[in-house]
Amino acid sequence: MTAARITVNGKEAPIAPAAPHTTVLDFLRERGLTGTKEGCAEGECGACSILVARPGVNKPTDWVPVNACLVPVAALDGQEVVTSEGLATVEAPGTPPVLHPVQEEMAVRGGSQCGYCTPGFICSMAGEYYRPDRCAHAEQGPDAAEGTDNADAEHGPNGFDLHALSGNLCRCTGYRPIRDAAFAVGAPTDDDPLARRRDQAPPAPVATEYRRGDSAFVRKGTLAETLRLLRERPDAVVVAGSTDWGVEVNIRSRRADCVVAVDRLPELRELRVESDHVEIGAALTLTEIERRLDGTVPLLAQLFPQFASRLIRNGATLGGNLGTGSPIGDSPPVLLALEASLVLADADGEREVPLAEYFTGYRQSVRRPGELIRAVRLPLPPAPVTAFHKIAKRRFDDISSVAVAFALDVEGGTVRKARIGLGGVAATPVRALATEAALEGRPWTAQTAEAAAEVLRGEGTPMSDHRASADYRAAMLGQSLLKLYAQTTEAVPS
Ligand code: FES
Ligand code: FES
Repeated sequence: MTAARITVNGKEAPIAPAAPHTTVLDFLRERGLTGTKEGCAEGECGACSILVARPGVNKPTDWVPVNACLVPVAALDGQEVVTSEGLATVEAPGTPPVLHPVQEEMAVRGGSQCGYCTPGFICSMAGEYYRPDRCAHAEQGPDAAEGTDNADAEHGPNGFDLHALSGNLCRCTGYRPIRDAAFAVGAPTDDDPLARRRDQAPPAPVATEYRRGDSAFVRKGTLAETLRLLRERPDAVVVAGSTDWGVEVNIRSRRADCVVAVDRLPELRELRVESDHVEIGAALTLTEIERRLDGTVPLLAQLFPQFASRLIRNGATLGGNLGTGSPIGDSPPVLLALEASLVLADADGEREVPLAEYFTGYRQSVRRPGELIRAVRLPLPPAPVTAFHKIAKRRFDDISSVAVAFALDVEGGTVRKARIGLGGVAATPVRALATEAALEGRPWTAQTAEAAAEVLRGEGTPMSDHRASADYRAAMLGQSLLKLYAQTTEAVPS
């Protein structure tokens, strides 16, 4: 095993002497790359956004923006990173750098005032700039892509998806000039080195054993080795995108003797669509799942835009969201409604557990020490009537007060089957069993919806806290079913 190294803006550097818990953000800033900023240190502001070369969805390599404040630098052993400093090009020594097209547009359109958030916006914008399918209809040049006919308030005529910036906050500009800049960028030119890099293979995962003192960051090369290590070290903290653990490290000053990375294990990164089910690797990022499924499971397609920000979705995984066992995670209500099961693996083999039987208490589950979530299985075909309602203070990038996922099979005007997953109303995510029973076998009418909504208001044991009162949560449950009825009745044959 060679010494841990990372390539930053084309130059390789040793990761030592950073501690195993040192974030990429701190590592970069200590090396003088202070364009990458710390705002919140918990994945909410995007000031620390950088680009990482990752396996691509439509090309061999994608430039993926992530929050540098959450990722341990040891997790990027052998990987390539670009910061805002690396986007501009220096054509000759001693000459000023030539701005990258996204930097140029931000500058000329007034997208930067105090400038604190700007490098983070630039990296998120650059990730979208290089997204291969963005430019499917774009023309090169300054008038690029009057071509797409999909423009709306959140998508530019150049194919730019504003959701790419949902994890970047700015205190100064009011966002309008930033949007103008985003919607003005053209397509990368043929000689753009980062565009060309997409056509080559991504950096291969590197087995890492990075130790300093009593603590270690470990990435094994295979699932079998990882499971053996987890058997020896059941106390190890397992991370994929580190979007949860990074917050614990930064905000709660937690440290672990042993952190084990699983995000590059091939067995956890498969996505297979079979005739009767889809199997989703637990370490695929939410962005990868979203783009690879491309709407195959509509309820998941509704979940993704509401799950944190694009920056978080570029690192977060289903395995992580289920592994933490949070009662207000966004994915469990949806996966409960979809009747998901989990494939759990340990050194002795695998077992399949229905998600409805997985959670046993607050942040508790049937997962044994040394066991890993390898994959999530969803039966196909998905129910035709689905909705995910996340009730939160902000539309994007917020924690829900209550989350409700519906998957209904309505045939000939009658509810044949109903599956409803709830978050935020109990110590664990739960199925709304009484409401399901109140719907099944009944005509899909306003009367049924109103009666079932009354039952739904009584599901779970919602509590009052700083996000919402128990009464509000109960009221929102009922309202959610009435909203579903209003949204879907026109589409359902009666
Ligand atoms: Fe705010 Fe990283 S510093 S997201
Ligand atoms: Fe000041 Fe965005 S320009 S925070």
